[in-house]
Amino acid sequence: MARALSKLVRHALRTHGCGCESLTVSVRSISFSPRQVTSDAGFHSVSFSETDHPKVLITGGLGQLGVGLAKMLRRQFGKNNVILSDIRKPPSDVYHNGPFIYSDILDYKNLREIVVNNRITWLVHYSALLSAVGEANVSLARDVNITGLHNILDIAAEHGLRLFVPSTIGAFGPSSPRNPTPDLCIQRPRTIYGVSKVHAELMGEYYHHRYGLDFRCLRYPGIISADSQPGGGTTDYAVQIFHDAVKTGKFECNLRPDTRLPMMYITDCLRATLEMMEAPAEVLSMRTYNINAMSFTPEELAHELQKLLPGLQVTYHIDPVRQAIADSWPMNFDDSNARKDWGWKHDYDLPELVQTMLNFIGSDSRIASAN
Ligand SMILES: NC(=O)c1ccc[n+]([C@@H]2O[C@H](COP(=O)([O-])OP(=O)(O)OC[C@H]3O[C@@H](n4cnc5c(N)ncnc54)[C@H](O)[C@@H]3O)[C@@H](O)[C@H]2O)c1
Repeated sequence: MARALSKLVRHALRTHGCGCESLTVSVRSISFSPRQVTSDAGFHSVSFSETDHPKVLITGGLGQLGVGLAKMLRRQFGKNNVILSDIRKPPSDVYHNGPFIYSDILDYKNLREIVVNNRITWLVHYSALLSAVGEANVSLARDVNITGLHNILDIAAEHGLRLFVPSTIGAFGPSSPRNPTPDLCIQRPRTIYGVSKVHAELMGEYYHHRYGLDFRCLRYPGIISADSQPGGGTTDYAVQIFHDAVKTGKFECNLRPDTRLPMMYITDCLRATLEMMEAPAEVLSMRTYNINAMSFTPEELAHELQKLLPGLQVTYHIDPVRQAIADSWPMNFDDSNARKDWGWKHDYDLPELVQTMLNFIGSDSRIASAN
């Protein structure tokens, strides 16, 4: 049996040696899974076709993106089919709006229990330490972003889940082409965050080829949202400027005025995530795609804001850590493959973004008085 298996794998590796084609050796067919759990584990999982809707678990769900994603998925699949999880205590509105479970992604058994008991079919893995926070605590970032990811991959492979893991513009580095940055190019990031995300992309694709894991990954640009706080990334300034502009009419930016970075409004980001998760496997020529909407500098963003809030004063006090990170990241993101393969299209450009953010943050009265 073992010899037959190794023959099968050798043959598959030979015929797919270029790595371009999907080498699908499923967990079941090779009779062992990444954690040496018997193939019976897969027997207990629910295949997507057995249910009307996917049953979704979101890890790290109390961060900038998770609550909004849960809201959107619950509208689509029903409130009880989307479970938020995190290690933090949920605010009461989040707690009362749908299922919430404590889950530390470093606790493998607990994760497996949640997946089994709730018959999870889709896993959206949002837990992470972001770029600036990660640089301030490398060993924790390594644990959460790398060890945690290994747990997630194993659970997903063993239980036949569709797994979404976001990557980032931070998965590129100073030696990558920066304007624009294509899907496939040199990736030598200089942050633990970036290194862990390249690792996630490669491990996810490896599990896809090796075990047939339905791994899906989008490289998000900096995400801008009004009703959730950013979690310590390099693009946080582009959220904070709106809050400070409305509250105080002043903003001190921690990046240079000419620092150009790719950005996206949260509604586009969450819709892209759902579209990628729902895309038929046969249209996906890759498992990791860039997605983009717009690209701007702090100066350009301030200028657009000043059209609606003419009194806004912006000063610059550069944070050398964040600036060095931003200087190594893409300025423009080439997302033509996502547009071609599964029809990605953004809705929000810079003027709509600014108008929507200000409306949300409740600046209508200021805009009226400015006019
Ligand atoms: N927000 C962005 O601009 C952006 C851009 C690119 C990629 N991403 C990616 O999207 C995902 C979500 O981003 P976000 O902005 O919501 O992040 P965030 O930092 O706001 O939230 C991350 C969450 O992970 C949780 N977490 C930390 N350690 C954990 C552990 N051991 N177990 C379980 N949960 C744990 C935290 O409590 C937090 O709620 C991340 O993977 C991030 O890398 C975000």
